[in-house]
Amino acid sequence: MIELQDVAYSYGGAELFTGLSLTLAPGSFQFLTGPSGAGKTTLLKLCYGDLRATGGVVSLFGMDAATMGRDDVALARRRIGVVHQDCQFLDHLPVAENIALPLQVAGRADEAAGDLDELMAWVGLRGQAAQLPPQLSGGERQRAALARAVITSPDVIIADEPTGNVDWEMSQRLLSLLVELNRMGKTVLIASHDMNLIRTAKSQVSANVLRLKDGRLQTGVAL
Ligand SMILES: Nc1ncnc2c1ncn2[C@@H]1O[C@H](COP(=O)(O)OP(=O)(O)OP(=O)(O)O)[C@@H](O)[C@H]1O
Ligand SMILES: [Mg+2]
Repeated sequence: MIELQDVAYSYGGAELFTGLSLTLAPGSFQFLTGPSGAGKTTLLKLCYGDLRATGGVVSLFGMDAATMGRDDVALARRRIGVVHQDCQFLDHLPVAENIALPLQVAGRADEAAGDLDELMAWVGLRGQAAQLPPQLSGGERQRAALARAVITSPDVIIADEPTGNVDWEMSQRLLSLLVELNRMGKTVLIASHDMNLIRTAKSQVSANVLRLKDGRLQTGVAL
């Protein structure tokens, strides 16, 4: 679905990584780990077309990202649900409206009512639907961000430290939601430095662990 071949990226100075290859096969579940500053967020951004590789080939659903125009990228992006590391919301809109926003942007607002209710219940936020984002706890924000990422029913879920600011119990809960999505056939890529979480996931799902360090990507990392 998404493939990186011999990819390099630089923010202008020295190259952050080179010769990096990665395949997100349909239905796979992968973790991306590595030290802070190694380039995990950057790598995820290349996978969802937010950044363009400075070398090598990134293909999104069979198309070479380098030749894709703005509209092509926007279409590809609709098939990818992203949970950002900093999970920002529009603070003046209720939580439910924030979660439904991607459907509106995709011109599918009419689908919102039924899906939204079900999704809010799935992430355990039905009681918070009318609240404003600043009124949510850290764990509630992370769950709202996950709900927003999946409301359009994307084929791929890319989550950047989705359990960054939550306690162990909440991170387990978020993980089980991601495992459930994978069991429904979604391709999942999660950047995380939480080794306990990755170990727990490996007991629930067949997950591949990638490690990005010193500009190199190691695959099939044993924990
Ligand atoms: N927009 C930018 N312009 C210049 N340098 C950047 C930019 N974004 C990130 N960097 C640099 O690129 C490197 C990799 O950043 P990135 O955010 O991808 O790391 P990360 O592995 O996700 O780190 P963390 O675990 O802290 O989230 C860092 O040294 C960072 O300072
Ligand atoms: Mg990061």
